[in-house]
Amino acid sequence: MRVGAPDTMENTRIISAAVLLSGTGSTLQNLIGWIAAGKLPAKIAVVLSSKPDAYGVTRAKDAGIPVVIVNRKGFKNHTKFAQEVNDRLAKFDLDLIVLAGYSHLLLLDKLRNIPAINIHPALIPSFCGKGFYGDKVHKAVLEQGIKVTGVTVHFVDEEYDHGPIVLQEAVRVRRDDTIASLRSRVQRIEHRLYPEAIKLFAEGRLRVEGRKVIILPLSKSRK
Ligand code: GRF
Repeated sequence: MRVGAPDTMENTRIISAAVLLSGTGSTLQNLIGWIAAGKLPAKIAVVLSSKPDAYGVTRAKDAGIPVVIVNRKGFKNHTKFAQEVNDRLAKFDLDLIVLAGYSHLLLLDKLRNIPAINIHPALIPSFCGKGFYGDKVHKAVLEQGIKVTGVTVHFVDEEYDHGPIVLQEAVRVRRDDTIASLRSRVQRIEHRLYPEAIKLFAEGRLRVEGRKVIILPLSKSRK
């Protein structure tokens, strides 16, 4: 199954994306920068935050991007929360859902036909799943004396950090690394790898075959 914006003859279509977040929004900010520099054929139609006071909300508003808040604390359980997120996003005309530091599982109900993508600061299936996010990942990597960690961009399914892998890149762990130094090097790779993966999606070059994602050369994606 080829996943991606239906390619057009003349060039890559500008895809419409929703960015979901719960935190500081540096991932969002990076995508805003790539789009502004004309390096990423995408438009962020909406930023949805599960936390009203997430700094990512401020970044979205400063960039003039519509914001939807679905406050997780306002729902008695995850299913009702996820259903509200699903219903709010279903009002937008989206090609892609981009998770950017979003702390919850997606409920792919009305959104089932819209691909969702996520970035994780480790080489899945290592150091991932419920409870493994942000600095907790880097802390575990350092505590276990891991020599190589990295970044994974993957499609999202109904489990944490589990969908078919789109791109990965290794990051060597240094003897004198701290959580902060490792986070910084990993995030530098994230800030290139995520836009690269979304661009491949926009070019219609991602074909999902079971657990595998095949990256098509630009010429072939037109067939
Ligand atoms: C990202 O750096 C990535 O590792 C993971 O969560 C982090 C979110 O950071 N998805 P931010 O909220 O975008 O600053």
